[in-house]
Amino acid sequence: MKKPEFIARQGRRPTGLLGAIVARIMARETRPENERALHLLDLADGDSLIDIGCGHGETLFKADAMVRLAGSAGVDFSEVMLKRARARNRDAVWETRLTLHCADTSALPFPDNRFNKALSVHTIYFWPDPAAHLAEAFRVLRSGGRFVLCYRSTADRRAVDGFPDTVYRFPQVQEIEGMLSRVGYFQPETLTEDIAGRLTHWSVAVKPKAKDSKAGRS
Ligand SMILES: C[S@@+](CC[C@H](N)C(=O)[O-])C[C@H]1O[C@@H](n2cnc3c(N)ncnc32)[C@H](O)[C@@H]1O
Repeated sequence: MKKPEFIARQGRRPTGLLGAIVARIMARETRPENERALHLLDLADGDSLIDIGCGHGETLFKADAMVRLAGSAGVDFSEVMLKRARARNRDAVWETRLTLHCADTSALPFPDNRFNKALSVHTIYFWPDPAAHLAEAFRVLRSGGRFVLCYRSTADRRAVDGFPDTVYRFPQVQEIEGMLSRVGYFQPETLTEDIAGRLTHWSVAVKPKAKDSKAGRS
């Protein structure tokens, strides 16, 4: 059965009291996908990580517990989510290892080449022009930096049948890999796994070093 549209809209941009409840549930529900994304990022001490559509901030908290982050950031346009993320990451924010920003992920408030790791989990369904958001992730990533995009796709009937298509647009893996390549990433690769009945994909892509991109174009 499809989720009612007013609940689905809370997934896209949580607001108000219902949004706060959704944030709490989501922090628990999406943990396995986010943990896998963090492992695929191959984090190391001193990494500057950006979580694009960070929501509740649980993943940034986890990353900062795995390694010592530096100059990291979370971006989301939901104030309800950011409130929770700020509370969860109080220490890292206070110690200036992390900043949290209310912004649309189609225009990230950072200069080029700012981070060396980036992830975005369960966000692409809501982006009217996904390539524009992926290009932003590419822009703020340094050469050699790694990006992990996690999503469900049209290959999972439970996803397609479970959410209203007025709010969620599930992509195909090929479509995502094509977009990542066109934006400039080097040979994106996708891992697929069933997580508690949810067929989930993690597309992993690297921003080429300057000499690689020249070689790629010749
Ligand atoms: C389904 S939640 C996923 C949250 C978190 N990444 C996770 O895995 O649990 C989607 C999040 O992306 C945010 N979001 C969606 N579209 C956005 C946009 N265009 N700009 C900024 N944030 C966006 C929403 O506010 C929400 O917090």
